[in-house]
Amino acid sequence: MEEKVKAIQQEVEAFLVKSKEDLETFRLRFISKKGLVPTLFDDLKAALPEEKKKLGKVLNDLKQLAEGKFKTWQEELENGAATTATDIDLSLPVIPNKTGNLHPLTLTRYRIIEIFERLGFNVSDGPEVEDDWHNFSALNFPPNHPAREMQDTFFVEKSGAEGSDVLLRTHTSNVQIRLMEKQKPPIRSIMPGRVYRNEAISARAHCFFHQVEGLYVDRNVSFRDLKQTLYHFAKEMFGQDTKIRLRPSFFPFTEPSAEIDISCLICHGKGCNVCKYSGWVEIAGSGMVHPNVLRHVNIDPEEFTGFAFGMGIERITMLRYGVNDLRLYSENDLRFLKQFKVVIG
Ligand code: PHE
Repeated sequence: MEEKVKAIQQEVEAFLVKSKEDLETFRLRFISKKGLVPTLFDDLKAALPEEKKKLGKVLNDLKQLAEGKFKTWQEELENGAATTATDIDLSLPVIPNKTGNLHPLTLTRYRIIEIFERLGFNVSDGPEVEDDWHNFSALNFPPNHPAREMQDTFFVEKSGAEGSDVLLRTHTSNVQIRLMEKQKPPIRSIMPGRVYRNEAISARAHCFFHQVEGLYVDRNVSFRDLKQTLYHFAKEMFGQDTKIRLRPSFFPFTEPSAEIDISCLICHGKGCNVCKYSGWVEIAGSGMVHPNVLRHVNIDPEEFTGFAFGMGIERITMLRYGVNDLRLYSENDLRFLKQFKVVIG
């Protein structure tokens, strides 16, 4: 009898249950009324009295083992969990982990920073909620000058006192002033950030967007430096055969001022929608820092000169990736965002 018990015990131990059907087979074979384990108890009655005690214990252990296994499997199957390690098929392909990617504006900002860092520019930051002084007055915008109207401003607080209104910055040029207030030349810095203008949202305009400002102030900085710096930037950003063109322009804080155009990447000068059939697209405003701006931050314009430029990150991203609607940048549509899988490293 002992051998019979051992054989059944081994069978119980080796039994695998993967489904409810297996579990039922197990129950019928081992623990149901007519199953193997209960019948062993019947056999026990016929055993010799001196063996009964020992056999009884072995049988009870077996009964507990079989019932314990049954209970565990039953619970596992009800919870839907994998029953045993052998249920996991290690040869199946893995489900790929969904990882996010960087926003196209971030990719462009990183690239711009990379190009200027190699020229020795560092990165500075400044506030988005700004006072009139840093956004306008210190930058040589006279009170009530029409140039203020060019940048439709969101006001946070209108105090009336000169230079003290609080507003959302309309450009990153406020950081030029903040930087020069606390640091004296040489200054070579770029300042990326978000700016705000009260414009109706469309494919071509938005009430917020991003700029990168650049400022270089030192002894003997000339217009040549400005031109070569931006030429280098254009080639690094858009390809070595990119050409640049400077067009006379006006900004209160630079004199002389120039708009920087690059040769159209789409049609290479033949004329297309993007360049409005001119062969050129505008990428930045720039100029030599106006002496009044330097005076406002206590830098002597007789000793120091500088150049500044400002460009829109949205616009450069549009040219770089062929995006044709500004609104796509802030709508968080994954179908759009997923297309910019560029590995930074
Ligand atoms: N701040 C200007 C703008 O927002 C751009 C600019 C920056 C022009 C620096 C010249 C120098 O349009």
